[in-house]
Amino acid sequence: MKILWAITGAGHLLKESIKTLEKLSENNQITIVTSKAAKEVLKLYGYTKNIEEIIEKNKENQLITDKQQQYSYPLSGKLTHNKYDIIIISPTTANTTAKIVHAIADTLITNIAAQSGKGEIPLIVVPVDQKQGHITTTIPPYIDKEKCKKCTPCPAQRSCPTNAIIPPEINTIKCISCKKCKETCPYHAINTDKQIKLYIRQIDAQNTKKLETIENITTLYKVEDIPKEIKRILG
Ligand SMILES: Cc1cc2nc3c(=O)[nH]c(=O)nc-3n(C[C@H](O)[C@H](O)[C@H](O)COP(=O)(O)O)c2cc1C
Repeated sequence: MKILWAITGAGHLLKESIKTLEKLSENNQITIVTSKAAKEVLKLYGYTKNIEEIIEKNKENQLITDKQQQYSYPLSGKLTHNKYDIIIISPTTANTTAKIVHAIADTLITNIAAQSGKGEIPLIVVPVDQKQGHITTTIPPYIDKEKCKKCTPCPAQRSCPTNAIIPPEINTIKCISCKKCKETCPYHAINTDKQIKLYIRQIDAQNTKKLETIENITTLYKVEDIPKEIKRILG
C-alpha cells in the first residue's frame, strides 16, 4: 500500500504518531510530508532520526518538506492524483485544522488536504485539540532556572553537540533533544520530560467538530486507531 503521512508542528500526539508511522512503514511504501513547523518540532522532541530511519527503510520512501516548495504548491496536485491509496495527517495542529475546515490552502499540507478530495484519495485527520478543557502534554527540554547555578564553565553547555545551551536558556531552534545535557548537569537543572496542563479553547474544539462534516475526511481521535481505520476504508 502507498501511504502519504503528513506531520504538522504539534508536540501533542507526536510520540503516538511516530510510533504508528514506524509500524505502518514495516510493510508499506511511505511518503512523509512535514510542515515548516513540524520540521522544528520533530527536532525539538528528538524525532528527526526516527523520520530518517523510516525513509531509509525502503528506497521508494521519501521525505518532502514544505520548505522545498513554491507558493502555489504544484506538488500537492501531483501527490494527490492517483499516487497514494490513503493520506493521513497526524498530529494535526489547531492551526492546520482551522485552515482545513475553512478551506484555506496556503501550506503544502493544507493544499494536500484540499486536493485529496479532487483526487478521490481518502484522508484521515487526527486533530490534537479534540475537546474543550484541559489536557496534559509533554514539553521540550528546558533549564529549571531555580536549580541552575550558572556554573563557569557549564558542563551541560560543553556537552551540547549543537551549541544550543546558553545558561539558563536552551535555544529551541538549535536543540535536537539528545538529552546529553541532562546527564552532565551536576544540579539536575535540565528537565527533558516535563508534563504541563494546557487548556483547549472552545474555538479549536469547534473546528475539530467541523472536520467531521467535511466530505472525504475521516476524523480520528486516537492515533492507534489509524491502521484499523485504513483497513475499514480500503477493505
Ligand atoms: C514545542 C512546540 C510544541 C507545539 N505543540 C503544539 C500542539 O501540540 N498543538 C498545536 O496546535 N500547536 C503546537 N505548536 C504550535 C505550532 O507549531 C504552530 O502553531 C505552527 O504555526 C503550526 O504550523 P502548521 O500547522 O503548519 O504545522 C507547538 C509549537 C512548539 C514550538
